[in-house]
Amino acid sequence: MKALVLSGGSGTRLRPFSHSMPKQLMPIANKPVLEHVLENIRDLGITEVGIIVGDRAPQIAEVMGDGSRLGIRVTYIPQEKPLGLAHCVMLARPFLGDDDFVMYLGDNMLPGGIKEVAEAFRTKRPAAEVVVHKVSDPRAFGVVELAPDGTVSRLVEKPHTPRSNLALIGAYFFTPAIHEAVASIEPSARGELEITDAIQWLVANGAKVRASEYLGYWKDTGQVADVLECNQTLLADLQPENLGNVDDFSDLGFRIRIEAGARVVRSRIDGPAVIGAGSIIEDCHIGPDTSIGSGCTLRATKVRDSIVMDGAEITGVHGLHHSLIGRNATVGTGPTGGSGHSLVVGDHTRIEVAA
Ligand code: DAU
Repeated sequence: MKALVLSGGSGTRLRPFSHSMPKQLMPIANKPVLEHVLENIRDLGITEVGIIVGDRAPQIAEVMGDGSRLGIRVTYIPQEKPLGLAHCVMLARPFLGDDDFVMYLGDNMLPGGIKEVAEAFRTKRPAAEVVVHKVSDPRAFGVVELAPDGTVSRLVEKPHTPRSNLALIGAYFFTPAIHEAVASIEPSARGELEITDAIQWLVANGAKVRASEYLGYWKDTGQVADVLECNQTLLADLQPENLGNVDDFSDLGFRIRIEAGARVVRSRIDGPAVIGAGSIIEDCHIGPDTSIGSGCTLRATKVRDSIVMDGAEITGVHGLHHSLIGRNATVGTGPTGGSGHSLVVGDHTRIEVAA
C-alpha cells in the first residue's frame, strides 16, 4: 500500500502565518503537523509516500527532505493550483499506479493513529473506507450518512443542513477503483473536484464504501485556536526528558521536555511544556501548555498556553497567553500602557508591548 499526503492549498484561514509558511508546517509540540502525519503513515508499515505540494514546495521539501529521517521514501508531486482533493488523486496517478493507498490530509491531526482503520480496510477491502468522527457542527466538513448495515449511503461536502453528525476526517483508504470515480465527476460550485463527490460516485455505481469511526482526539489545524488547542492536547502526553542545562536557581514542574543544548537560568517552568533545542530561558515563568521552539531567547518573560516558534526573541513581557509567536519574531517592552497580552504574531514581525 502507498500513501498520498495532501500538502498543497493556500491555508488562508491561518493568516498571517499562511503568508510565510504552509499550515502543514505549523509546529505542534515542536514538530510540524506534516511530520505527525508522516509518522502515523509510517506506523501503518507504509514506506512509499507521495506528497502533493503547491507554491510552498521548497519550504516543505527543506523540512521533510527525502523522508529518510522518518524511514520513508517521499516523492513530491507538484500541483499548480488547489483544484480539489480529487484533483490531487488524478495528479498522483503515475505515482500510485494500480496500488491501494491511503490519502491523508496534511493539516489533520489524528494522534491516536489509524491502524485499526487500515486493518479493517485490508481485511474487508471495500472500494473505499473513510474515517469519520462525530462533531457538534458538521457544516464545515464532508458529512457521511450510513445505511442500516453500516455502509456509507451518502456523502455531501459542507452541507447547509447536515443529515448526520459524522464528519469526514483526514484519512481515506482507496482501491484503484477511485481513479475511474475521480475521472467521472465535475467541479463543484466552489470550483473544486471534490473527493466526497468521487466517493459518492462509487456509492451510486454500486461499489462498497465503508466508514470507520475514529474515537480519539482529532483536529483540523486550519485555524489559530485549533492549533493552540491541539498543542495543549499533545503536550498533555509529553514524555519528560532533560537534554539541556537547568541551573540550581530554576524550578521545574512535571511533564517538561528540555531539548538538547537548551539553557534554563533562574526560571520556573510549569508543565506540560517543551523547550526547544538551543533555546535560552532566563528569569522567566514558562507554562503550562507551552511550546518554545528551537533557538529562541526568552528573558524576564511570563508565557503560558502558547506556541513560540523557532528563533523568536521575547524580552520583558509578563502576560503572554494564548499566543502564537512566529519564527524569528521579536517581542519586547515598549512605551504603551495596558496589561495582559494575547498575540498572533506572523514570522519576522516586531511587536512592542507594555512591561
Ligand atoms: O478536515 C476535514 C475536511 O477536509 C473534510 O471534512 C472535508 O470533506 C474535506 O474536503 C476537507 O475540507 P477542507 O476545506 O478543510 O480542506 P482544505 O482545503 O483545508 O484541504 C485539506 C488539505 O488538502 C490541506 O492540507 C490542503 C490540501 N489540499 C487541498 C486542496 C483543495 C491540496 O493539497 N490540494 C488541493 O487542491
